[in-house]
Amino acid sequence: MSSIQKRIAEMNRRVEDLQERGIYFYLQPLDGLNGAWVSSNGQRMLNFASYSYLGLLGHPRIEQAAQEAIKQYGTGTHGVRILAGSLPLHVELEQTIARFKKAEAAIVYSSGYVTNLTTVSTLVGRDDVVICDKFNHASIVDGCLLSGARFLRFRHNDMGDLEQRLRQAAPDQGKLVIVDAVFSMDGDVIDLPEVSRLCREHNALLMVDEAHSLGVLGETGHGIEEHFGMEGAIDVQMGTLSKTIPSVGGYVAGKRELITYLKHAARAFVFSAALPPAQVAAARASFEVIEDEPERISALRRNVGLFLNGLRARGFDTLNSETPIVPIICGADEQAYQMARLCQEEGIFVLPVVSPAVPVGAARLRANVTAVHTASDIAHALDIFESAGKQLGVIG
Ligand SMILES: Cc1ncc(COP(=O)(O)O)c(C=O)c1O
Repeated sequence: MSSIQKRIAEMNRRVEDLQERGIYFYLQPLDGLNGAWVSSNGQRMLNFASYSYLGLLGHPRIEQAAQEAIKQYGTGTHGVRILAGSLPLHVELEQTIARFKKAEAAIVYSSGYVTNLTTVSTLVGRDDVVICDKFNHASIVDGCLLSGARFLRFRHNDMGDLEQRLRQAAPDQGKLVIVDAVFSMDGDVIDLPEVSRLCREHNALLMVDEAHSLGVLGETGHGIEEHFGMEGAIDVQMGTLSKTIPSVGGYVAGKRELITYLKHAARAFVFSAALPPAQVAAARASFEVIEDEPERISALRRNVGLFLNGLRARGFDTLNSETPIVPIICGADEQAYQMARLCQEEGIFVLPVVSPAVPVGAARLRANVTAVHTASDIAHALDIFESAGKQLGVIG
């Protein structure tokens, strides 16, 4: 068997093993989505696995914008924007994002993953150094590897270690520091004031991935700069249009010069088709809804408090989460699978995250709370987590 065949066989063996034991939870068929509820194989469950943090998926104003865009422009584009033409909708979305992120300009790409891959590999190359938090998202890691730059990583949210890495680069070398705003497995927030100070001191460019902070952090949901009162601190503001924004795509906002450069050099912009009109219109309307319906942000904040405090009071380890992403640490992979099984049997849709996605021994349920959960939804879920946790010895 070649190494390629071995790799394929090994993954198939893992999947079949989990399926046979009835603890395979991935790619679950969903036959209905309705606010805080999902339905899978006919079972109605409370959804604690959604990224629609403000509950904008299914919002009538957003859906109407998408329908009108299809009527006017159809379902696709003629190809890449730089060669086949750019719709007014694309330009309007980029202007909306730039205004929302208080930046000079923005560029949109066809996914968040691709945004990181192409942005990082366009900004740095063989002569440069790129420095990442160890818990950064896979799409950032892949962008760093693709770039060919010297790739250094610092311990998670450890500013002393970041400083050490910055000192490893030559003073005149191009340096790019990249961090997640909110970490997608742990739900904690990067120490932006210190990262920003170190970047300025060492003349490094700062890129922040706001996949999980857009619409979530900051008094009015504008993200991590608003959260820390640090407008203008980030050079490359990256985000996705697939989580709080119920569409698909990714963006970078920043100085006009940076965006012009990306629009002519980023391979995923120059060699890949434009986002379809419906998704662009939906994304644009979503930014407006976030600003017009601030009560959603207050509801989300209240729910994060209820959920985190409730879990901690019951003895669960939720690491340093302070956001809607709440890790419920279970320990061994098997414990996380069994927790997911018990919770799903009781009507809570929540998924396990196991190694290698998280360190061995830190397998968890990753539970996401959203603005559309009611206080009684949360109380009900807490009871189920508690009973499952006690049954498996995750809590005493
Ligand atoms: C931190 C982070 N960045 C980027 C992405 C990729 O975004 P998308 O799913 O929109 O491609 C994700 C998605 O899970 C993410 O969590």
